[in-house]
Amino acid sequence: MHPILEVIHLRKHFSTVEAVRGISFSVRPGICFGLLGPNGAGKTTTLEIIEDILKPTSGEIFFDGSPRTNAFREDVGIQFQHTSLLNFLSVEETLATFARLYHRPAGLEEIIERCDLSEIRKRRNDRLSGGQTQRLMLALALVNRPRLVFLDEPSTGLDPQSRRNLWKIVLELKSEGRTLILTTHSMEEAEYLCDEIAIMDQGTIIASGSPAELIKRHGGLNSILLPCANCSCPLEALPLAAEKLDDDTLVIHVEEIHQGLNALMECGIDLQGISIHSPNLEDVFLHLTGKRLRE
Ligand SMILES: Nc1ncnc2c1ncn2[C@@H]1O[C@H](COP(=O)(O)OP(=O)(O)O)[C@@H](O)[C@H]1O
Ligand SMILES: [Mg+2]
Repeated sequence: MHPILEVIHLRKHFSTVEAVRGISFSVRPGICFGLLGPNGAGKTTTLEIIEDILKPTSGEIFFDGSPRTNAFREDVGIQFQHTSLLNFLSVEETLATFARLYHRPAGLEEIIERCDLSEIRKRRNDRLSGGQTQRLMLALALVNRPRLVFLDEPSTGLDPQSRRNLWKIVLELKSEGRTLILTTHSMEEAEYLCDEIAIMDQGTIIASGSPAELIKRHGGLNSILLPCANCSCPLEALPLAAEKLDDDTLVIHVEEIHQGLNALMECGIDLQGISIHSPNLEDVFLHLTGKRLRE
């Protein structure tokens, strides 16, 4: 299946800043593609260029195999972070107004239901809470039944329940065959939602692949954390290489957790109080850059 989106050698300079430094990637239809990276990595700039809001300094973008035309806007939905809504309109009036801008709008009831807006459908835009405004912004992004949906840090500022709801909607959109491109600096969100990820740092893509591939390739080994008190023998006598994490804890890096645990049990080490850490996308980022994602 040919990609729905191809990004080729994209660059963007702002006066003194090189925000995007020649990145390329492609996105298969029907997946959730994540741009993951810390603040300032160039995620929003990349998204805005693909959305045709910003002009690139150089590079090419193909949608469905061809350069984007004016019809592109009928096919894409963008969840804006700050759109000026007309204060005196209600939620449903706002949706109806936006729906009129498109040839094939979704049914309003369907959108209201999906984005959990029925209780506030008559409420004025200026009386909405932050989370409610965000739900309306998502609804506006979906009002034209887009084939390609852009979500720029969609869960930033959401409470845990709204975040779960958003994740449910993303999975539903995917199951309908729509493609999503989202940015996040939450590795948990990326791991849960994304089929493919490009990790960005300082304007470049430093690694890409499925979450599982990235973790396998760059995440490092599993760690068994063992209280020092459990281990009466000298470290060298252990069947596995162990090092001190701090005064109270030993860390043992193993390929396979069960083999590591078996080896410890075989030499009579008490496993009470141990914990196990399997590598995640945060470790991938740490290994690749020496920094934490949230720093
Ligand atoms: N309009 C602009 N003018 C100048 N610099 C900008 C502009 N927009 C973004 N930048 C800079 O480009 C870099 C990437 O920003 P951005 O794409 O917003 O990153 P992210 O979304 O990953 O946090 C940052 O250094 C940012 O300060
Ligand atoms: Mg951003």
